Amino acid sequence: MIKVEKLQKSYKNIDALKEISFTVHPGELFAYLGPNGAGKTTTIRILTGLTRRTAGDAWLGGFHIDKETLKAKKEFGLVMQSINLDQELSIYENMDIHCRLFNMPRPERRKKIEEILSYVDLAHRKDSLVKQLSGGMKRRLMIARAIVHSPGILFLDEPTVGLDPKIRRRIWGLIKQIQKTGTTIFLTTHYIEEAEFLADRVAFLDEGRIVAIDTPQKLMNKTGIWAIDQMDENKMETLYFDTRGKADTFIAKQEESYTLRRVNLEDSFLSFTGKKVQC
Ligand SMILES: Nc1ncnc2c1ncn2[C@@H]1O[C@H](COP(=O)(O)OP(=O)(O)OP(=O)(O)O)[C@@H](O)[C@H]1O
Ligand SMILES: [Mg+2]
Repeated sequence: MIKVEKLQKSYKNIDALKEISFTVHPGELFAYLGPNGAGKTTTIRILTGLTRRTAGDAWLGGFHIDKETLKAKKEFGLVMQSINLDQELSIYENMDIHCRLFNMPRPERRKKIEEILSYVDLAHRKDSLVKQLSGGMKRRLMIARAIVHSPGILFLDEPTVGLDPKIRRRIWGLIKQIQKTGTTIFLTTHYIEEAEFLADRVAFLDEGRIVAIDTPQKLMNKTGIWAIDQMDENKMETLYFDTRGKADTFIAKQEESYTLRRVNLEDSFLSFTGKKVQC
């Protein structure tokens, strides 16, 4: 559904993307995980026609993003990182403007808006002004607006940034539900647990480069199965082991205190990049 080949983007003195290539399969939830400035938003902006690329090619639903722009644009819905709703208008009005942009006839518009607002649990607030909504409601409205024209691909740029853990989980549930309808989802995040919980496959992005792509489980297995955290002169050191036996042999020789745990996706990101993802 999404194909990207050797995509590059250079700003004046910054190479924001350095020959990025990946494919996202139909119905897949693909997470693009990386720290601030890694190039996540730049990738989404290029794929959705908001920024021009420096080099490379990309296709959405088989349509080239430049050569078949209009067809490619019909393939996707987009939820931007920053809130871009009309604050002075109601929920319904925000949805209605968007539907008009897609030339949906009036009767169909009303039916579809009501259906999608119920789906994201905002139907009872449809006449509220956007400025009166909480951050979580605004995010749900942005997602509703992005899927009202039934796109095959949904781009979500950091959909839960700044939300509390409870609301974040609610948005995760909504994203999973949307995937179940057959929508292909491309999601960027710097929350490790978001990628681990939601993604079928994850790409680790670091300084404009993809350093690994695989299922969360396989990425973790490449690092190890067991991890031991230990304080070493005020610095946390982590060691990885592929069997419990090897971890136990190490522990038997230890005099300092330690924590034994399972390897998680953060360990994997750290071992591929040497960096922490949370900024
Ligand atoms: N319009 C621009 N002009 C110059 N540099 C830019 C511009 N937009 C982005 N950049 C640079 O490109 C790099 C990638 O930025 P991008 O916004 O894609 O990162 P990101 O992974 O989305 O980060 P965040 O997690 O903070 O949203 C950064 O170094 C950024 O400063
Ligand atoms: Mg960004």
